[in-house]
Amino acid sequence: MRELDQHTITDVALDQMSATRNQRFKELMDALVRHLHDFAREVDLKPGELLAGLNFLTDIGQKCTPHRQEFILLSEVLGLETVVNIMNDLRGSGRVTRTSILGPFHVNGAPPVELGQPLGSHLKGPEIALYGRVADTSGKGIPTATVEIWQTDEEGLYDVQRQEELDLRGCFRANQEGRYYLRTVYPLGYSIPMDGPVGDLIRAQGRHGMRPAHIHFIVGAPGYSTVTTAVYLRNDRYIDSDTVFGVTESLVRDIQKPDPTSPFPDLPGLKFDFTLRASVENTQGGHRKRVMPAH
Ligand code: BEZ
Ligand code: FE
Repeated sequence: MRELDQHTITDVALDQMSATRNQRFKELMDALVRHLHDFAREVDLKPGELLAGLNFLTDIGQKCTPHRQEFILLSEVLGLETVVNIMNDLRGSGRVTRTSILGPFHVNGAPPVELGQPLGSHLKGPEIALYGRVADTSGKGIPTATVEIWQTDEEGLYDVQRQEELDLRGCFRANQEGRYYLRTVYPLGYSIPMDGPVGDLIRAQGRHGMRPAHIHFIVGAPGYSTVTTAVYLRNDRYIDSDTVFGVTESLVRDIQKPDPTSPFPDLPGLKFDFTLRASVENTQGGHRKRVMPAH
């Protein structure tokens, strides 16, 4: 038996894990242990600081319910989800629409809505036209595409934050040219849930906790990889400082007024096209299915 020091412990730990049967799991755990040990050495971590970190993770776990995913929120505010999304987007060839944060306000079972119809049953704020085309990497429209959309209302709230009834969300089927179009309201930016340990972290870091105005999409078609993304409004004051790092330039748009190319030329127009990658298998590609949140 040799005397351990803060460096040799790493190899000893890796050695003890070396019989792990699943090779990918071994690769993940080995790297995690190496990085955790490196982190502790780099910052000269004190026992009280380790305990504070573990208590924080305990608080995160205790805040989770079937309707509240504080761990996912943590991975978002640390930028981890976006690192993973970007690496996934850049795999494979061809320019496809970039992924953005799904967020906790996605709800399964959005109602089908006919093209041209409003997204909500009674739009309250000023209206915009939202439209675009779903195409493959060669630019050909995909007629079978489905476009699921959800957004905040004119006050920056999702339906599930107000009531049981679904509103400002729907599933559209693209037309023969792959086009979709609808009327909706201007979305407004909003704060992420700040009443838990993630909110404490955000405040301790002097961050604002805001997301810029956006509209969410899940776009798919048989034979293509589904993309979970969002369009962001350029004129939002938080466009360059999204708390969950969901914004990238190719997802940012201006609202055009007037917009002569829009199917509703009298309304301010927001145009957002999608490019999908052909897939052998049309899986959900790691996109999470979540239940309805209650914030
Ligand atoms: C959202 O865009 O809906 C969202 C994303 C992360 C945290 C909170 C909300
Ligand atoms: Fe959102």
